[in-house]
This record gives sequence, C-alpha cells and structure tokens, in this order.
Amino acid sequence: PESNNGLSYEDCKATADWLLAQIDMRPTVGIVCGSGLGGLADLLKDQVAFNYKDIPNFPQSTVHGHAGRLVFGTMKGKPCVCMQGRFHLYEGYPIQRITLPMRIFKLLGVQTVVITNAAGGLNQDFKVGDIMIIKDHINLPGFAGNNPLVGPNDESRFGVRFPCMSDAYDRDLQQLAMEVGQELGYGAFLKEGVYCVLSGPSFETIAECRMLHLLGVDAVGMSTVHEVIVARHCGMRVVALSLITNLAVMDYGSEEKANHEEVLQTGKQRAEQMERLVSSVVNRIEPN
Ligand code: 6GU
Repeated sequence: PESNNGLSYEDCKATADWLLAQIDMRPTVGIVCGSGLGGLADLLKDQVAFNYKDIPNFPQSTVHGHAGRLVFGTMKGKPCVCMQGRFHLYEGYPIQRITLPMRIFKLLGVQTVVITNAAGGLNQDFKVGDIMIIKDHINLPGFAGNNPLVGPNDESRFGVRFPCMSDAYDRDLQQLAMEVGQELGYGAFLKEGVYCVLSGPSFETIAECRMLHLLGVDAVGMSTVHEVIVARHCGMRVVALSLITNLAVMDYGSEEKANHEEVLQTGKQRAEQMERLVSSVVNRIEPN
C-alpha cells in the first residue's frame, strides 16, 4: 500500500524546513503539553509561536483545554519546541497524523521528548493531584491494529520496521525526573507506573476500569502512547509524566463520574508543580 496519510519523509521534511526557515534557534528538546497543562509553553523565553492552522500538513486542535500552537523558545537556557495542545485519536484524524509532530521534532533536531498528559488513576494508592512518571505502557488500540507505524516504513530515514519498545521510557530520564521531583519537595505526590491508552472519547465503564486494573494499569488516558512509539521509532529519547486528574470509578456504589471539567480543574491546581518539574528536568537533560 502507498498510503501514509501525509506522513512521508518528504511531507515531514517540507513542514520542518518551512519552520526552520522562520526561526533562528535549533531546539534539542521537544515538549508536549497535556490537557490543562498548556501553561508549560508560556514558560519559554524569546518565543516564536505558530498556530497549527498555519503550519503545512499540521492537523488542528479541536479540544477545549488545548490551545493549538507550536511554540519555540528557551527553557532554562535550553532551546525547546513545545506543542501547546496535542492531537488525539478521538478527534478523528488518522493515527499517523496524530503523531506527525514527533517526526517534525526529529527533523528539527530534537533529541529528547518530554511528554505530559492528564490521566485517570487506577492504582489504589494514587490520589488526585499525584504526578506519575510513566515507566511503561499498554497500547490497547494497538492490539487491534491501531498502531501509528502501520503502513509503509521508511527504514533508512526514520527507523526500523519492527522497533523495540521494552526501553521506550528512558531509564536515566525516569530517574532524573524522580530525583528532580524529590529535590523540589514533591516526593509525597510523585509516583511511577504503567499508562494505558484508550481511543476515547467516552470514559471507561466500571467493568473496563476493573479490567485495566487487573491488567496492571496504574493510569488510563487517551494520548501519549502513539507519540512515544513514533518518537522511539526515529530514535528520540522519551520521558513522560501523567497528572492524575481524577480516580477511575471502580465500584457500582460510587456516585463519582469522570468528566472533562474535573480534568481541567485538577490540571490548574497542580499546573505550577508540573511546570516546575518539567522545567527542572529540561534544565538537567544532557545531550545524547
Ligand atoms: Cl478516567 N480516562 C481516560 N481515558 N482519560 C482520562 C481520564 C480517565 N482522566 C483524565 N484523562
């Protein structure tokens, strides 16, 4: 099959070159802001920002809580590029489109990607407001063929046909995030665990939450995993953080209901700590 949904090397190169022609800086760190965490991008100094709608080949952000801008700037002196708003499967874009920005990151010169998201907690020790350092994932849509690498593979310019995922989340960066978090005094709400992606947009049923819990999932969400797979495929290092914005409902007696407003609200409350954690991690990321 020929179709790659606009994700060919040439398409990506055209987008990257369009951006590079308009900026002087060369980012080495890429950041993705999760729901309610767009404030991260505002930390960048000497900003140059592009609306997604103006960038060739870019999809547009359709979700409330996601701004839809690609922001260049420095964080603690390091040149960064930041997605202020991301794309999700439930918006209806082909999965290869959702992950296009990762390949653009790569072609811009990014070596390390820092990904954030809002997630529902399944681990019974988790509390709302915890920050989970992702140590591994379960790509549930991938079990059914929804993997962003499905389709033609450009082995010589992006990566191998069958990329390894057992080291998807860089161990050194996980440790760095844990150390930095401890130093900031966040030890009490800093956790680690396994993230599972579902396509959404409906939240999980109680039975689905129970199933995921049995499978060893600590937090569930609708993003990140596809980005990680594409980032790892083309050789970037990844560190990912989940803000636990709500606890998944696990019993039929509960009056709790998952909702987007709660997700955004918790995002606001912990945004400052999340931002400080990310910027301190970025500060201490060393070149490959
Ligand atoms: Cl409870 N589920 C999913 N799928 N995504 C979420 C969430 C829950 N909370 C925040 N994002």
